[in-house]
Amino acid sequence: MTVSANLRKLIDAAAPYWAGEAEVFRTYWDWKARSRETDRLWLARQCSKEVWGSGLAPLDKGIFLGPAEELVAAFPRIDLGLDRHAVLDIAEGLRAEFAHYCAFADAHDALALPGEPKLNPHAVKTGWPEDLALSELRFAHKKENPKLGERATRFTEGGYCTLFSEGMALKRRRSGPHARANALIAQACAQVYEDEFGHMLKGIVGLDAEGLTAAEWKTLERMALEQLRGRIKMRNAQFGGPLAGQALTRALDGRCPPLSFDYRKAGTRLAA
Ligand SMILES: [Fe+2]
Ligand SMILES: [Fe+2]
Repeated sequence: MTVSANLRKLIDAAAPYWAGEAEVFRTYWDWKARSRETDRLWLARQCSKEVWGSGLAPLDKGIFLGPAEELVAAFPRIDLGLDRHAVLDIAEGLRAEFAHYCAFADAHDALALPGEPKLNPHAVKTGWPEDLALSELRFAHKKENPKLGERATRFTEGGYCTLFSEGMALKRRRSGPHARANALIAQACAQVYEDEFGHMLKGIVGLDAEGLTAAEWKTLERMALEQLRGRIKMRNAQFGGPLAGQALTRALDGRCPPLSFDYRKAGTRLAA
């Protein structure tokens, strides 16, 4: 994967914040406050993100209804002014995000006690304050500068998939009080990881071709880092606040040892 010096700088700036987000999950897995209930809560909140989109789409439509309506509107124009591959992209995005919803909802429901209701998209429509704050920040950036705000939103989508990679790693933890939950979470995360790595790459691809000016790169970096800080707060609240005190400050200040961006994997995926 060939990247410009500007893009590499953006990735380097993001890397400690991606690591900060990963720190939330790593701390949570062994947290003494973790329980079946807290697992069900974060899984339900993840389902909310997979349907309603945290600022990736208008709040009332989310990432199911938004693309579904786009597809209906696109049908009369396919190959009559609207490229078929652009339409396929929308359909694939809808399929992927709904598959993610299903994966996490299945894990959530599998952890239910008899009589506890199954999850549904409408029950999780209202997110939590920190997730709403992230959506609002993304909308504000898109309002301030539609092109760069959209780019920053796509660049920060999924937070380098650390929830999914850290969740997949739970596969190895087959004993202890959370063994069954760990297996369910690992399975759900494995179903999502490759898709989300691709979504993140989509946010990166074409950035170099945009021909951004030095000032635009600076604005993009500022927006991306603000969103990544918002993501850490969103994740920490999603999981009930496992990071606190100095550990949280360190993550929000971008002082975690940076995660290393896998340029090889990115290149292989892009070439495929
Ligand atoms: Fe997703
Ligand atoms: Fe996604």
